[in-house]
Amino acid sequence: MWPQTRITKMLKIKYPIIQAPMAGGITSPELVAAVSNAGGLGSLAAGYMSPDEIRNAIINIRALTNKPFGVNLFIPEKPHTTKKQINGMIKILNKVCKPFETRINQGTDGFSFEDQIIVLIEEKIPVFSFTFGLLEKKWLKKFKNNKTKIIGTATSVAEAKILERHGIDLIVAQGYEAGGHRGNFLGNPNDSLIGNMALIPQIVDNVTIPIIAAGGIMDARGILAATLLGVDAIQMGTAFITCKESGAHISYKKALLKAKHDNTILTRSFSGKLARGIKNKYIELMEPYQDKILDYPIQHHLTQPIRKMATKNGVTNFMSLWSGQAAYLSQELTASQLIQSLNKNIEIIIKKINQ
Ligand SMILES: Cc1cc2nc3c(=O)[nH]c(=O)nc-3n(C[C@H](O)[C@H](O)[C@H](O)COP(=O)(O)O)c2cc1C
Repeated sequence: MWPQTRITKMLKIKYPIIQAPMAGGITSPELVAAVSNAGGLGSLAAGYMSPDEIRNAIINIRALTNKPFGVNLFIPEKPHTTKKQINGMIKILNKVCKPFETRINQGTDGFSFEDQIIVLIEEKIPVFSFTFGLLEKKWLKKFKNNKTKIIGTATSVAEAKILERHGIDLIVAQGYEAGGHRGNFLGNPNDSLIGNMALIPQIVDNVTIPIIAAGGIMDARGILAATLLGVDAIQMGTAFITCKESGAHISYKKALLKAKHDNTILTRSFSGKLARGIKNKYIELMEPYQDKILDYPIQHHLTQPIRKMATKNGVTNFMSLWSGQAAYLSQELTASQLIQSLNKNIEIIIKKINQ
C-alpha cells in the first residue's frame, strides 16, 4: 500500500496518480472515470472542446463515477501574425500535405476561454488544472468559492514561484521528457527544457505547496524515483493513451505500442507551440520552414484539417502523435489494470529495498 501524501489527502484520492489531461479526444469520460474509480485522479482535457461538449462530458463522467476528477483548460495567448504570414503558411501546408487534397483555411474555435471556464464554475468541478500561463484572479476566486482545487503547470523554478504566489493549490512540474505541449509561459521555451531529475528537486526546494511530477514516467520505477525527489503525486500522460478506455485512434495507440526506444522530437510545426511527439513525415517535411511557423494558436488552426483528415484515415505520418520519451514502456491494459500493476510493482520494489 502506498503511503498517503499531502495530495492524496487534499484531492481525496487513494493513490497519488493523476491521469494527465490530454487534449484531442484521448481523455474520454470512460477513461477519466475508470482512473478515478481505480483510485487515481482522472482528468478531462477540455482545451479544444466547446462549452456544450465540456458540459456533456462532465455529465457523462459523473454518470460513471462518484469519485473526484479534474478538468483542464489552456490559458489563452495573443498571437502576433500578419495576413501575409498566414497566406505564406497556407501555401507551405498545401504543398507539404498535397496527398490529402485538404483545403487549408484559417479557422477558429468559435468559442472563448471565458465560455469554457464558465461551464466548469457552474458545474462546480472538484479539480481544475491549467497550462500555458497564469489564471486570472477573478476565476481563481470563483473556483475557491466552489472549493475546487486548482493545479497550474511549471517548467522552471521561476514559473513555479509565480504560480505559488498567485495562490493556486498544486503545481505540475513538467520535465523535458513530457509528451504533448510544453506548459512554459515565461521567457523563451528553449530555455526551460529541464529533465525531471534536475527539475523536480529545484522546484520542490523553492516552493512550499505540493508538487506533481510529469514527464517520462510510465512505471513503478519512475513513480518511486520521482517520489524520492520530493513530489507528492505523479501525472502520467503517455502511459494512459494506450489504455482500452482511451479515445486515441487505434493507429496512434499502435505507434506507441511498437516504440522500441525514444523516437520523439520537440516540434512547433503542428500548433506553433513547442510539443513532444513521435517523429513522422509531416515533422520532417516541415523542417525547412521552421522560421515560417506561425504563433500558437494560428498554426494549430491551420493544420487542423490535415490532422483531422489524417486521423480519420489512420495516416500516422500526418497525425500529431504526442508522446513522452518513455513510450516504449506503453502497455495495452485497462486503466484499472494499469493502476493495479503500478501498485503491485511499487510494493515489490519497496520489499526488495527493505530486504
Ligand atoms: C497526447 C497528449 C496531450 C496532452 N494534452 C495536454 C493538455 O490538454 N493539457 C495539459 O495540461 N497537458 C497536456 N499534455 C501534457 C501532460 O499533462 C503531461 O505533462 C505529459 O503527458 C507528461 O509526460 P508523459 O506523457 O511522458 O507522461 C498532453 C500530453 C500528451 C501526451
